[in-house]
Amino acid sequence: MTRIFPNLVARLYILLACAASSPAFAAGSSDIAAGHALASARCAACHAVDKQGDSPLAAAPPFRTLARNYPLENLEEALAEGIFAGHPDMPADPWEPADIQRLIAYLKTIQTP
Ligand code: HEC
Repeated sequence: MTRIFPNLVARLYILLACAASSPAFAAGSSDIAAGHALASARCAACHAVDKQGDSPLAAAPPFRTLARNYPLENLEEALAEGIFAGHPDMPADPWEPADIQRLIAYLKTIQTP
């Protein structure tokens, strides 16, 4: 018990420190890299997920063009709910909120006008 207790306090402290220092999600380079990894793992079977290249599935828009149609933030709700209008093949697993932010942070880095 005496060993577990200080450990627990340390963890709580770290949790509180994180909560206090990041009121909103501010993406760092590791988040952007994680977002790229998520896109590669979960979306790249159909979509082009990098700054160049064609989508493996021609009907799937390359991710670098998504912001032409609507703000990338709109993806947040769609991913959280696992719903994409007109997107029947979309893998519908629900996303962790932090992963959604990472994906969007990555997408922002590859948009072309
Ligand atoms: C099995 C193939 C497939 C996979 C995997 C896939 N998509 Fe798609 N996606 C499509 C197709 C096809 C379209 C075009 C649908 C249409 O225009 O009707 C599309 C369209 C989209 C659109 C545009 C929707 C719109 O309303 O303009 C977004 C955003 C999108 N996909 C995000 C994703 C994300 C994020 C992932 C990974 C989690 C993903 N997709 C995985 C096939 C796929």
